[in-house]
Amino acid sequence: MAPLFLGLSLLFLLAPSVLVAESVPELKLNSNLLQDSIVNSINANPKAGWKAGMNQQLSDYTLGQFKYILGARPTPESEKRSIPLVHHDRSLNLPKEFDARKAWPQCTSIGRILDQGHCGSCWAFAAVEALSDRFCINYSMNITLSVNDLLACCGFLCGAGCDGGTPIYAWRYFVHHGVVTEECDPYFDTTGCSHPGCEPGYPTPKCVRKCVSGNQLWRQSKHYGSNAYRVKSDQYQIMAELYKNGPVEVAFDVYEDFAHYKSGVYKHVTGQYLGGHAVKLIGWGTSADGEDYWLLANQWNRSWGDDGYFMISRGTNECGIEEDVVAGLPSPKNMFKVVTESDDAGSASI
Ligand SMILES: *[C@@H]1O[C@H](CO)[C@@H](O)[C@H](O)[C@H]1NC(C)=O
Ligand SMILES: *[C@@H]1O[C@H](CO)[C@@H](O)[C@H](O)[C@H]1NC(C)=O
Ligand SMILES: *[C@@H]1O[C@H](CO)[C@@H](O)[C@H](O)[C@H]1NC(C)=O
Repeated sequence: MAPLFLGLSLLFLLAPSVLVAESVPELKLNSNLLQDSIVNSINANPKAGWKAGMNQQLSDYTLGQFKYILGARPTPESEKRSIPLVHHDRSLNLPKEFDARKAWPQCTSIGRILDQGHCGSCWAFAAVEALSDRFCINYSMNITLSVNDLLACCGFLCGAGCDGGTPIYAWRYFVHHGVVTEECDPYFDTTGCSHPGCEPGYPTPKCVRKCVSGNQLWRQSKHYGSNAYRVKSDQYQIMAELYKNGPVEVAFDVYEDFAHYKSGVYKHVTGQYLGGHAVKLIGWGTSADGEDYWLLANQWNRSWGDDGYFMISRGTNECGIEEDVVAGLPSPKNMFKVVTESDDAGSASI
C-alpha cells in the first residue's frame, strides 16, 4: 500500500511542473511574437523601468520560432557539485560602474554584436564570445573564435546544437577539444533565415573538422581553455570575476515581454515564460533612476534592443540572471607553437 501511495503522490507533485512547461498552448505558437498590446502596456507603465518597441530583428517571428532560438539548457543539479566554483576574496575595491569595453578598449571583440539567426545557439555564442574577449584581455591579441566549431562538433556532450545546449559544457569543450578561429570555420548562418523553408529554425550544421581555407590546419587553429568553472550566485562574486578576468556567460529566463525590449533596465512585467537564453555579461552600474543594473551583449543583431545590448535589474536575481554564471580562463596551449619544417610538410602536399 505504501509504495502505491508514494507513487501516486509523486505523480501529483510532478504534474504541476509538467503543466507549467507546456503552458504555451500549441495554437499560440503560430501567432506573431511581437504584439502592440505588450509594447503599449510596458510603455504606459512608469514602474516598468524600461521601454518596449517592435524590434525589427524579430518582426517576422512566430512564438514557436522564437522559442526555438532560446537554446540555453540549465546545468543539471546533479552535475553542479562536480563543477569548480570560483571564489574572489572581498578585498577588491570594485567601482560603482564598470564597462568591459572601456576597461579593455584594445579588445574590440567585447563590443561586437553578432547574430545567431534561426538557431538555438545562444549557449555557444555567449561562450565563444566571452572566451575570445578573454584571449584578448590576457594575451593582447585580437581573435575571433568559431561558434560553428562548438555548435557542430561538441555534439551530445554539449546538448543538441541548434536545439540548445548547456553553457558549462561549452567551456569544458574549450578545455578538452579547443576551438578553432572563425576564419577557419565560419558560422553557417550569418544572413538569417528566409521563410518558408526553415521552420521553426535551422538544423544543426555538420561537424566537418576542416578549415574552409586549404592553407589553414584545423588542429593548428585550435585555441584552448585552461579550466571551466561556475561563479557563485552572488553580486560581488560575479562583479569581481568580470572585473578581474573579463566577460562571462550568463543564462536567464525569457518571457514574452523581453522580445520587445528597447532601452532602460529590464524587469519581467508581462507575458508567458518561453525558455532559457544565454548572453554575455560585460558590465554593471546604476541608472539615473537609481536602479542597479547588469549590462549585457545579446546576439540578435543591432536592430534588437539598445543597439544589440540590454540592461537588466541587478542584485535581485531577476529572471535567474545571477544563477547560472559560467566562465573559464584562456590557455597558452597551442598558442605560441613554432611551425617547423616537419609540421609544414603535411599541409604543403595538400
Ligand atoms: C545583421 O542583420 C543584417 C541585416 O539582415 C545583416 O546584413 C548582418 O549580416 C547581420 N549581422 C550579423 C553580425 O550577422
Ligand atoms: C592569464 O591567464 C593566466 C592563467 O591561464 C593567469 O595566471 C594570468 O594571471 C592571466 N593574465 C592576465 C593578464 O590576465
Ligand atoms: C585590435 O584591433 C583594433 C582595430 O583593428 C585595434 O585598434 C586594436 O589595437 C587591436 N588590439 C590588439 C590587442 O591588438
